[in-house]
Amino acid sequence: MKSLIAAKGLSENEIRLVFQKATEFKKLWKGWRGTEFPHQSLKGKTVVNLFFEPSTRTLSSFELATRRLGGHSLNFSPENSSTSKGETLFDTARNLQAMDPDLLVLRHASAGAPYLLSKEIQIPIINAGDGFHEHPTQALLDAYTIEEAKGKIAGLHVLIVGDIAHSRVARSNIYILKTLGAKITVCGPPSLIPPAIEKLGVQVSYDLKAAIKTADIVMMLRIQLERQHQVQFPSLGEYSKFWGLNSDTVQYLKEGAIIMHPGPLNEGVEISQEVASGPYSVILNQVTNGVLIRMALLDLILKGTTK
Ligand code: CP
Repeated sequence: MKSLIAAKGLSENEIRLVFQKATEFKKLWKGWRGTEFPHQSLKGKTVVNLFFEPSTRTLSSFELATRRLGGHSLNFSPENSSTSKGETLFDTARNLQAMDPDLLVLRHASAGAPYLLSKEIQIPIINAGDGFHEHPTQALLDAYTIEEAKGKIAGLHVLIVGDIAHSRVARSNIYILKTLGAKITVCGPPSLIPPAIEKLGVQVSYDLKAAIKTADIVMMLRIQLERQHQVQFPSLGEYSKFWGLNSDTVQYLKEGAIIMHPGPLNEGVEISQEVASGPYSVILNQVTNGVLIRMALLDLILKGTTK
C-alpha cells in the first residue's frame, strides 16, 4: 500500500490487513499506561496534515495516530498560509514536499484533488475526504466498527440514510461494505438520492420507517448544506420529520441493530441527541476506532520506507 486515494478498488485482503493491524494496536492500547506507546514504527517520520476544509475527528485522529506511533505531525492551516495570496494546491504541496516530510494527508473541497496531487508529488498521500467523492479512512473505520459490534459484515443489511447525493462517506462505505459482503439500502428524499445509484449495487428506499425494520446497521448522514447549491427539501423541520432518527423512529429498529453517524451531527435534524447518545449508538466507538484505523494505515504505508 503506497497511497490511499479511494475505497473503490480496495480488495478484501487489503481491507482485512488494515483491520488486523488496527486490532493489534487495540490490544496494545488496552494494556498501555506509559508515556510511550509500545509500537514506535513512525520514529523519525513526519506526516503533514493538509486540510483545506474544517475537521475535528479526522485531523485530530491523524495527529494522535502519528504521535502515538512515535512520529511528528505538521498541521498546515490554509487560512494562515500563502494559499490566501493565490498559491495553488500543487505549489503548496510541492513546497511542503521540499521540506522532506514522509506522507501527506489531504482534505480538499474538490473531488479528485488527492488523485491529481498523487501524480505531482513523490511521497504517499492519504485522502482525508475530497469533495463529495470519497472518504476512504472513514469507511474503513465504519466497517471496522460494524465488525466489532456485530462480529461480521457479510450478509448484514446496512441502511444509509440522508444526503446520499453529497456524501463522500456514503460512497466510500458502499464500496467497502459491498466488498465485505453487506447488503446496502440507501434512504432519503428523492432530491438527495443520486439517479442510477442502483448501479453501485444498492437498493433505494424513500420510506425510513419501513426500511429501518430490516436493517442491522442504521448509518445516519449529515445534510451537507455546504455542498448544496439549491434548496433540496422544504425545510430542516420537514426533513427531520420524515428522515430523522428520534425517539419515535427508533422504535422501529430491529432487535440488536446499531446506530452510526460519521459526525459532525446536526442534532435535532438527522438525529436527536437522546438517540445519538442512547443504547443503540456506536458513534463514539467510531471515533475511537478512527485513531486505530489511521494508526494502522500510517504503519502499513510508512513501515520500512526510506527516503
Ligand atoms: N467524519 C468526519 O470526517 O469528521 P470531521 O469532518 O470532523 O473530520
